[in-house]
Amino acid sequence: MEVRNSHSLVRVDTPDREELFHQAVEIASGKLKDTLFSVNSFLVVTHVDADGIAAAGIFAKMLEEHRKFFLIRSILSLDTSFLEEIKTLPYDAIAFLDLGSAMIPEIEEILPDKPVFVLDHHASRGSPKHVVEVNPYRSGFDGDKWISGAAVTYLTIRSLISNPYRLAPLAIVGALGDLQDRPINKLQGMNRKIAKEAALKGYLKICEGIVVFGWARRPVEKAVACMFSPYVPGISGDETAASNLLIRIGIRLVDDSGRPRRPADLSPVEQQVLARALAEKIASMSGQPVDESAFFGENYVITEENPQDPTYDAREFSSLLNACGKGGRSDIGIAIALGDRGRSLEEAYRLMEQHRQRIASALSLITNQGLSRQISPHLYVIDAGNLIDERLISSVVSILATSGLYPKDSIVVGLAEYKYRDQVLVKVSARYVSAPGKMVQPKLHLGRLLGEIAEAVGGVGGGHGVAAGASFDSGHKQKFIELVRQRIETALA
Ligand code: C5P
Ligand code: ZN
Repeated sequence: MEVRNSHSLVRVDTPDREELFHQAVEIASGKLKDTLFSVNSFLVVTHVDADGIAAAGIFAKMLEEHRKFFLIRSILSLDTSFLEEIKTLPYDAIAFLDLGSAMIPEIEEILPDKPVFVLDHHASRGSPKHVVEVNPYRSGFDGDKWISGAAVTYLTIRSLISNPYRLAPLAIVGALGDLQDRPINKLQGMNRKIAKEAALKGYLKICEGIVVFGWARRPVEKAVACMFSPYVPGISGDETAASNLLIRIGIRLVDDSGRPRRPADLSPVEQQVLARALAEKIASMSGQPVDESAFFGENYVITEENPQDPTYDAREFSSLLNACGKGGRSDIGIAIALGDRGRSLEEAYRLMEQHRQRIASALSLITNQGLSRQISPHLYVIDAGNLIDERLISSVVSILATSGLYPKDSIVVGLAEYKYRDQVLVKVSARYVSAPGKMVQPKLHLGRLLGEIAEAVGGVGGGHGVAAGASFDSGHKQKFIELVRQRIETALA
């Protein structure tokens, strides 16, 4: 059957749940439209990662078209003190993007008298009364893979803006930033439908083949050296090693006219040879066989972008936004999501390269200082103290969890300390371990687990089944680790 939403060209496979979701989107769009008639200004609160920044770009485009004043605040996580702080700000309405669902009761209580929209894909708490929420979990979908926060935002605003399809690539950038294409390197669920629709409208090209970072643009040795997922020990972060590997397996770095070859230029046979060499490299480090298919999937090219820019390849675009957020410059990321190029793009590119360098250093630090410790049969803890920036810990833990270095079915938890006002807080990132290219069937929901344990130590936490985060006062670190250990071993015994 056809979805009723007038902008949708796609067919529905599970009508009940999907129709329910589209109804929620339509209701929220209607209320947003009414709100736009009656207010002058919006406060937009978003998550400081690529998905959140892409979501903010989409929402801000819509606000620009409606000539509204707005301020965007990007934050690591939402807590009651932040809600108290924004309560006093003079904005007529508030939109929480890519976050907020876990704090519905607190939002209802602290912000009772303004129009509030929560467009999120993280697990929800409570039931909204005056808050207008769109969240896939409310319709029975898993927000982990099915839809990004930017895509929820895109669907909600697209009937309120002219030519909405031009913003669809940002929804895809958000999904890729949240690794929703993993482990098969292909988007699924509603993300996939949005991608196909954007391709049909000419805003996106979906290209099957080997998936390496900077597929459409970077010289092949640079692209291979930039690969962090899967993390290829001895190659990731080392361009000379990547060049040597390519030469050894007979892949030419330049074409007949001396121009650098890009991964997109490799023949199917060359792609296969490269994937085999990378798989062998991982297997030789971890002792576990790696399927070559882990390196294949779909590349997403944004047709309106300049092919020389990092915004051309949607994966690189998301990495760019992520680096802006993690580098404390989400303003630059938002400017780019809003269409700014030139100086902003140069600065973002610099941040991205710096970010990748810092990640490579953090990975070496963990290895060289033996920071990763097995605490119990299924739990590995990386207690980085203040040696690793709290904004880097999630990327580092994500890379390690897919590196093949930990046994499957275990969980890696990274902790980094940071100062916030007068307090020392701990930022936690937890990931289910998965073999490169393999889907995880989590036996416990990490997001709920961290949410409950963080609450027990006076902090906040949440997230998805296989990837979650938390933060709390550093005085409770040992108690937190012990609670995580107990809960994980009970659930996985
Ligand atoms: O911070 P990190 O990337 O490790 O978080 C993993 C997932 O958990 C993200 O989707 C993030 O939005 C979510 N999260 C959350 N609440 C927190 C911290 C993280 O929902 N307090
Ligand atoms: Zn997200």
